[in-house]
Amino acid sequence: MIQSSRRRLSIVLAVLGLAGCADGGVEAPETLSPAVVDEHSFARPLEARVRHVSLDLRPDFQSRRLAGTARLVVARATGADSIILDVRDLSIDGVTDAGGDSLAFRLGTADSVRGTPLIVTLPEQGDTLVIRYATSPEAGALQWLAPAQTAGGRLPFLFTQGQAILTRTWVPTQDSPGIRQTYDAVIHVPAGMRAVMSAELLTPEGEAGPEGLTSFRFRMNEAIPPYLFALAVGDLEFRAIGEETGVWAEPSVVASAANEFAEVDEMIEAAERLYGPYRWGRYDILVLPPSFPFGGMENPRLTFATPTVLAGDRSLVALIAHELAHSWSGNLVTNATWDDFWLNEGFTTYLEGRIMEELRGKEYADMLRQLGRQSLLATIEELGGAQAPDTRLQLDLSGRNPDDGMTDVAYEKGAAFLQTVEAAVGREALDTFLRAYFDRFAFQPMTSERFLEHMNAELFRGDETLAARVRAEEWIYQPGLPDNAPPARAEAFDVVDQQVAAFRTGTAPAQLQTADWTTHEWLHFLRALPDTLSAARLDALDAAFGLSRSGNSEILFEWLRIAIANRYEPAFPALDRFLTAQGRRKFLAPLYTDLAATPWGATMARDIYRRARPTYHSVAVNTIDDILDWPGR
Ligand code: BES
Ligand code: ZN
Repeated sequence: MIQSSRRRLSIVLAVLGLAGCADGGVEAPETLSPAVVDEHSFARPLEARVRHVSLDLRPDFQSRRLAGTARLVVARATGADSIILDVRDLSIDGVTDAGGDSLAFRLGTADSVRGTPLIVTLPEQGDTLVIRYATSPEAGALQWLAPAQTAGGRLPFLFTQGQAILTRTWVPTQDSPGIRQTYDAVIHVPAGMRAVMSAELLTPEGEAGPEGLTSFRFRMNEAIPPYLFALAVGDLEFRAIGEETGVWAEPSVVASAANEFAEVDEMIEAAERLYGPYRWGRYDILVLPPSFPFGGMENPRLTFATPTVLAGDRSLVALIAHELAHSWSGNLVTNATWDDFWLNEGFTTYLEGRIMEELRGKEYADMLRQLGRQSLLATIEELGGAQAPDTRLQLDLSGRNPDDGMTDVAYEKGAAFLQTVEAAVGREALDTFLRAYFDRFAFQPMTSERFLEHMNAELFRGDETLAARVRAEEWIYQPGLPDNAPPARAEAFDVVDQQVAAFRTGTAPAQLQTADWTTHEWLHFLRALPDTLSAARLDALDAAFGLSRSGNSEILFEWLRIAIANRYEPAFPALDRFLTAQGRRKFLAPLYTDLAATPWGATMARDIYRRARPTYHSVAVNTIDDILDWPGR
């Protein structure tokens, strides 16, 4: 569709003129800049766009389908007579207007990355479409767990994962991060189960629903990108932490989760001090069953988290600081398209470090930063070195599954960029700038270009020396890690390096001085060990430190990588257990990749994967299928 920019501008204004913000404010005109095209959506928001979604859904655990209706409220430009939605693997049973009169619809040509456009004729009167539909058992966003895959073992479980482009497999809407929508929902679940969502829960105890079901009602009054629509259904219990914080988890997990995350109020206070008010009301954390494919997912008001973060000693809770930080970077100011994913994750990784520094001090945050930098250097190597296109902050994901380009680069190079800005302008100036940035662009999409422009205007303010010291364009548009990145070096790791040196010269593990090490010193130690180790030395390490039995998922993960690299068979039962007992992609992908590098490892990987694959979420399955060249994928 080619339009003159003048015509496009008039359409933008017409669309915006039809509807204000859900919270009653006036929407800034740049909310939908005509220049921003999301290659991962079929939507044409300048013609017609979804503003609000009302869901009425029932999960059927037998047939593994969600079924019901999505009622969409749309805004349209003058003369627009249809709207294009994104769907994938949905069966659409009918579309009506608010009064129940049928509306014509058709499915357009499907594409393997984006799914299928659903084109609906708009009603002549009114702005409402009601879509009756059901999801497919294969829906990419949904994981249906059998009772045996839960902690309780008694009831099944369902959860969604929308990011990046999976919401279209359970909600027929315009699935683009630049098209923000408010939502409400009613979810009807079997007796004894509860529903939770990324929204305000209006019926804490549920209410009597149809056919003996219990209905839970929700409302999200802030306009959010659809990748943040989220639902979980299971045997869930709530435990308060503070006044407006708490955890949801299966009954046998909820106490340890509440203890692990006891510092969440302090985290919110620290984040608000640094970056301005938390704008989402409550902040709760849902601990999912172990197949949850991510460490955490920043669903608004309700972070979804892996149980592998429950180390028992609060040593992995930077993950919660990270998901909480998305309440500013990501959920308030949102990447307009997935090419600018670093605006979500790089900012959030930087904020995570700052929040943890407030809570635990500089020493601690420096350890996180050094470990992060180390991962970045490894990732750049894996991607093909400093010239590899995917090492740029602004990506080009067109024609690809956005998931494929989402690497540590967005997180750690993005954070390193902000560290570079901090070193140039000073912490105070950067903090002031960021606070104002989150306020100025709250509830709006952001692009690299707009960010650069804003930073030049508000932070560098024509100071060319400053701009030259930062080299922002090089950071954002060029591959590799620019050489003006400030060094990431934790003094606390000096003693670890000394012990690694002692180990290298033959000191027995039991003689090493490790007594007061925390998780992060252990992670550094394990990463710094020699690449090749004899079985005898590995035996000694395991005997001295109980690594194969570690209840800390990050430590166990590093140890298992060492075990694979050295074909250390005594650790293989632990490896098998780890790969079958949890489904976090960040752990699975490197371990399967390491195994796949040798013939014996590939055989073992296939044997484990054959058993584990049915228990993994689709996003993990897609990745591991690729790694192992799995037949029939
Ligand atoms: N938003 C991400 C998770 C994500 C990324 C989902 C891309 C789908 C596509 C989340 O905030 C995240 O980054 N989680 C990390 C943990 C964090 C501490 C780095 C994870 O899952 O490991
Ligand atoms: Zn994140």
